[in-house]
Amino acid sequence: MLRTRVLMTLCAIWLAVTGTAYSQMTDRPYAGDAVDADGAIRVPDGFRTDYVMLGAWSVAGDVDTGTDVGLHVVYAPRDAVDAYRRTGAFPDGTVLVKELFNGKTEALTTGEATSAASTAGYFVMVKDTKGRFPNNPLWGDGWGWSFFNADDRARTVSTDYRADCLGCHEPARSTDLVYDYAYPVLKP
Ligand code: HEC
Repeated sequence: MLRTRVLMTLCAIWLAVTGTAYSQMTDRPYAGDAVDADGAIRVPDGFRTDYVMLGAWSVAGDVDTGTDVGLHVVYAPRDAVDAYRRTGAFPDGTVLVKELFNGKTEALTTGEATSAASTAGYFVMVKDTKGRFPNNPLWGDGWGWSFFNADDRARTVSTDYRADCLGCHEPARSTDLVYDYAYPVLKP
C-alpha cells in the first residue's frame, strides 16, 4: 500500500517536471530574447550569425575631407523573412535589427571602398500585432522601438518612439513603417 503510494507520488513528480520542461521547450517566448515581460527591448544575442541580413545602406562620406561613411546593416530572423516572402508582411514577433557601423573609406584597387570598422549603435523594431504594451511609450503603431548605444545592448536610451523614431519612418507608412524596398531578400 505504502509502496503504491510512493510510486504514484514519484510518477506525479516525474510528470510535473517533464511536463514543465516540455512546455518550456515548445512555448517559444514572444520575440525570443529581445523583449521582456514589461516590454523592455534589448538587442538579441547572436543576430549577426542567426538572423538573415536583409540589406545595407551607406551614407556617403568623402575621402578628401576625411568624412567617413556610415554603414547601416539590417537583419531579421529567417522565419520572419520566409513569412514575408509568402505573405508580404512581417509576422507578430518579428525582430528587425539595424546595426550602425562607422565606416572606413580607403582607396583600394576597386576605387574608394568602405568597410565596417566599428559598431556605432543599434536600432531595433519588434512587430506587435496585439498592442501588448499600451502604456509603454516605446510601443505603438504596430511595433516596439528602441535605440542602443554600442556599449550597452541590454538598455535602450530611447524614451518615446513618437519623438525618437516615428517622424522619420512616416515616409514608409504604406509598407508598415519599414523601408522594405531596399531589402532584396524580401522580394519574391
Ligand atoms: C533621422 C531619421 C530616422 C530616425 C530618427 C529613426 N529612423 Fe529608423 N530608419 C530611417 C531610415 C531612412 C531608414 C532606412 C535607411 C537607412 O537606414 O539609412 C531606417 C531604417 C530603420 C530600420 C531598418 C528597417 C527599415 O525600416 O528599413 C530599423 C530597425 C529602424 N530604422 C529603427 C528605428 C528606431 C527603433 C528608431 C527610434 C529609436 C529609428 N529607427 C529612428 C530613419 C530614421
